[in-house]
Amino acid sequence: MNDMQRIKEDYPWIQTPVVVGAPMRLIALADMAVEISKAGGIGFIGAGTDVSDLDSHLSSAQTLLSALPSPLPTKPHTLPIGVGFINWGADLSAAMPLIQKYKPCAAWFFAPSSLSSLAAWTQQTRQASPATKIWVQVGSVQDAISAVSTADADVLVVQGTDAGGHGLAHGASLMSLLPEVHDALSVSAGVGPLLIAAGGIAESRSACAAVLLGADGVCLGTRFLACPEASIASGYQAEVLRATDGGQVTVRTKVYDHLRGTTGWAETHNARGIVNRSYFDAVGGMDVEENKRLYEAEMEKGDEGWGEHARMTAYAGTAVGLVREVKGAGDIVKEIREGVKVVLKGAKMML
Ligand SMILES: Cc1cc2nc3c(=O)[nH]c(=O)nc-3n(C[C@H](O)[C@H](O)[C@H](O)COP(=O)(O)O)c2cc1C
Repeated sequence: MNDMQRIKEDYPWIQTPVVVGAPMRLIALADMAVEISKAGGIGFIGAGTDVSDLDSHLSSAQTLLSALPSPLPTKPHTLPIGVGFINWGADLSAAMPLIQKYKPCAAWFFAPSSLSSLAAWTQQTRQASPATKIWVQVGSVQDAISAVSTADADVLVVQGTDAGGHGLAHGASLMSLLPEVHDALSVSAGVGPLLIAAGGIAESRSACAAVLLGADGVCLGTRFLACPEASIASGYQAEVLRATDGGQVTVRTKVYDHLRGTTGWAETHNARGIVNRSYFDAVGGMDVEENKRLYEAEMEKGDEGWGEHARMTAYAGTAVGLVREVKGAGDIVKEIREGVKVVLKGAKMML
């Protein structure tokens, strides 16, 4: 069976090339996940480090899916959306009954505290719902090898350093990371995990490049910040639309974690966000407590709290400069998928 046949068997509603919506914590919830899957991609709910509301998000997704005039074809007893966990903080024992109850098509793991924790999540997920596929997001060749040997991951989401939100502080862009992961795992047609590329992909040209680098599909986070289904403050969304020249206006840093109190991340990880006053003050030597106090005061301003001269955090990747309009999540999926075909056709004409 080749990779495309495997994808069609595991996710029968899917259309190729595969477009995945990243499980962005608190932002990618039922509406976004369902719209993405409805359009032939794979949508994820971002449970992140806190599963206390996950039951209600999954229940909403189930309701939305069961209201469709024609149901999406799925593997028996699975929900055609996935759930993403940030494993160092998520509660395994609270998550498993929900996996068993809803049987998402995929469980996405990211940043476990140890390989034994990754093994425990994997084993218990497979026990709770054997049809649920294990996806692991990795940012290095070594982590990719470990995810395969520890979890026998069905899918590796290979995250390049352009990605918005959290990832490895030291990393490579997809351009070199993806082919090296591909070679290290000796991935060949139908053998080894499927590879999904993440990081810096916001439109069809970069999606096409990722496919040419060896990806079976692409995952987008930053682009989906600008869709009506995103659970996001308008000030944050406006900031994503405003920012251009992503390599200059975003930075990988721990500053925003310190201000927001999300300090459970390992030293190996930081996050990419749009630079703002909090960041420049931190770099300029402002005391963390003072910066935090100003950040908390800024929260009172609502949408006005976002902007280059303001202080609220806008996590986004280097592709933020390519995000220029708010568009429906399903339309984004279709635009990328159809665009890849057009770009490939154009490339063929150059040969
Ligand atoms: C706002 C935001 C929140 C994110 N939250 C999560 C998360 O909760 N769990 C996770 O595994 N990845 C998370 N990510 C990373 C994505 O999974 C993905 O790697 C990244 O968005 C891909 O790069 P892109 O933003 O350039 O598309 C987040 C990304 C963003 C932009």
